[in-house]
Amino acid sequence: MRLDLGKSMEIDRRRIRRLIRQAHTRERTLDRVIRGQAWLDPVAEAVQKAVGSFYAALGPPGASLKDVMHGTRVLGHPLHPALTDIPIGAWTVGVLADWIFIATGRVPQIAGDLALAVGLAGAILAAIAGYTDFHETEGHERRTAVVHGIAMSGVIAMQAVSLVMRLGPEGMRPAAILLSTLSWLIVVVAAYVGGQLTFGIGSAVNHNAFFDGPMEFVKVGTRDDFPEGEMRRVAANGLPVVILRRQGLLHAIGAVCSHAGGPLHEGELDGDVVTCPWHHSKFRFEDGRVVGGPATFDQPPLFVRERGGVVEVRLAHPLK
Ligand code: FES
Repeated sequence: MRLDLGKSMEIDRRRIRRLIRQAHTRERTLDRVIRGQAWLDPVAEAVQKAVGSFYAALGPPGASLKDVMHGTRVLGHPLHPALTDIPIGAWTVGVLADWIFIATGRVPQIAGDLALAVGLAGAILAAIAGYTDFHETEGHERRTAVVHGIAMSGVIAMQAVSLVMRLGPEGMRPAAILLSTLSWLIVVVAAYVGGQLTFGIGSAVNHNAFFDGPMEFVKVGTRDDFPEGEMRRVAANGLPVVILRRQGLLHAIGAVCSHAGGPLHEGELDGDVVTCPWHHSKFRFEDGRVVGGPATFDQPPLFVRERGGVVEVRLAHPLK
């Protein structure tokens, strides 16, 4: 048999080039799989509708409660990720306590039960906050969120069943412990999906976190560019800014909604407050404060000055 070395090396080179190309273009398996699950959309829409109806049925107190569950009020930061630490921590301790009890008997069996119950209470609160955030998701983010939500809701149900079994006849304890252990394993996987949602897709991340913006005054226009009562979008050293003249005075805040990047200059103005056109977060022009969720982060506030008909802005504080 004759071996054509030149030809075989060329094939190898082509194969290597193809592998390198694939390595650079391959989407994460998790994203690729979820992107192909169109059946998740009607499920997600039904859940979003139910969440919206629940808060709407409560009237104005429902809007306040929704802001608390987003973290817009009270915490001033996304609430759901903070709450998830409780069940993950408690259930981890609970599984350890259960198995140490079985293996050595040196941990009282109530330790596992107590940790499970504490985790369950925390998980229910975290789920309420999570479903609240889920209400304003869309596209691939929403599909990922619904996978995370279905898995975690299943875990809550399994842990609740385990708790009931532990309160029953003693002979049910081994099965209850197995059920808790299995649900803890699902938690680990579902938490990974939740992490992908935030760190991979950027859900609930402050959308102004990666801008720089000017710390010295820069020109953004002239007096006539900013008529009374109208919002105008400008760029200040790469930072999108929306400027409003109100009662003769100019006010400026970041133009990219901190929640998911909506264009605030296309929003609705009510006095000093602009409502984002995408999911209706509300921000004050006076200081950029978020006064209505789902956003939990303020808009970057800017100082504005007019000198000789020239309008200049600078950030009130650094963004990072
Ligand atoms: S992008 Fe969601 S409220 Fe603005």
